[in-house]
Amino acid sequence: MNSILSDRILNMEESATLAMAKKARELKSQGIDIISLSLGEPDFKTPKHIQQAAKDAIDEGKYFAYPPVAGYQDLREAIAKKLREENNITQAKAENIVVSVGAKHSIANTFMCLLNEGDEVVIFSPYWVSYAEIIKLCGGVPVLIEGNLENNFKATAAQLEAAITPKTKAVIYSSPCNPTGSVFSQTELEAIAEVVKKHPNMVVIADEIYELINFTGKNFSIASIPGMFERTVTVNGFSKGYAMTGWRVGYICAPLEIAKAVEKMQGQFTSGNTGIAQRAALAGIAGDQTPSKEMAEQYLKRRDLVLGLLRDIPGIKTHVPEGAFYFFPDVTAFFGKSAHGHTVSNADDLCIYLLAVANVSLVTGGAFGAPNCVRISYAASEADLIEALKRIKKALGDLA
Ligand SMILES: Cc1ncc(COP(=O)(O)O)c(C=O)c1O
Repeated sequence: MNSILSDRILNMEESATLAMAKKARELKSQGIDIISLSLGEPDFKTPKHIQQAAKDAIDEGKYFAYPPVAGYQDLREAIAKKLREENNITQAKAENIVVSVGAKHSIANTFMCLLNEGDEVVIFSPYWVSYAEIIKLCGGVPVLIEGNLENNFKATAAQLEAAITPKTKAVIYSSPCNPTGSVFSQTELEAIAEVVKKHPNMVVIADEIYELINFTGKNFSIASIPGMFERTVTVNGFSKGYAMTGWRVGYICAPLEIAKAVEKMQGQFTSGNTGIAQRAALAGIAGDQTPSKEMAEQYLKRRDLVLGLLRDIPGIKTHVPEGAFYFFPDVTAFFGKSAHGHTVSNADDLCIYLLAVANVSLVTGGAFGAPNCVRISYAASEADLIEALKRIKKALGDLA
């Protein structure tokens, strides 16, 4: 019998990171001591003053009705102010901001508004799992340009230029990048902007969700380059930098035409984001930034810890991530080897092997467009990281 479900959903891939997390949870529930390094989720709690703002908002009783579709005006103003002052996006005003149910929703809204059937979107690869699926859902065609270990997984402006066709509508990247932790420098973004400026119908989607976890000390927004505000949708949110994944608040800053379209789209799908979550987000963006800075310091400490442990594992090849909370090592040295009844032919097999033998869950690089790599999240305690890397080293050492 044919499925009752639409081709749209039948053709969609399941999120590989969520699938791995589910598998790890199932094993954990059987009493197996699994260390999960597969999810892109801070292990910190939302800072206290943000929690308090949500409690106060409930007590005030003013935020229980449908909120404005694009977000409360004071939150949109606070976001625009931050973008002007910290990101040098001088044209950002409240009217350019649309608050959504997480950055994932912001990205989905944006592609829904930009893409016609057959429009191409260039994706800097390795890339965050959801980009390609959202683009396809909106009728678009993902076109990958690939970075590699040698250039810190950063595809170049020249590669972008070579990938552009008359059908190209947009280009998307994340910086700091999920899954590689790489950060585009100002010079690299200026080169990308030069290419985009040659194509008047092309838009940049700059995913800056890991902005606050950037170890280079220099965050640069492509929308701050003269002439680029009109061509850029800056995506950001509260999940990573403020440890607020469950609150589901993200936003775009876009030229008015796109911002208005996204508001219209959101008005039909979800209406505005939860009022209480927006009040918490306002406390995050306008309040004390110390907790976010302290979390970033902890991530840097862990990055250095894991770097040392990975360098001690023969066969693992890694670059040094400059942001986010991931390593993305090349694991090809283990392909074609066997142990404990498993044969490892690719990164998918290696993840299954490590889950079964080391009881550590990672995500295959195949999910991010890089089948020679695996993604290790270090958003976990130092004790768990040390134990996990010890187990990984032992299991990989068994492969022959
Ligand atoms: C690169 C990137 N963009 C966007 C998102 C979505 O974040 P949110 O929780 O705000 O939907 C994620 C979350 O994993 C991400 O890694």
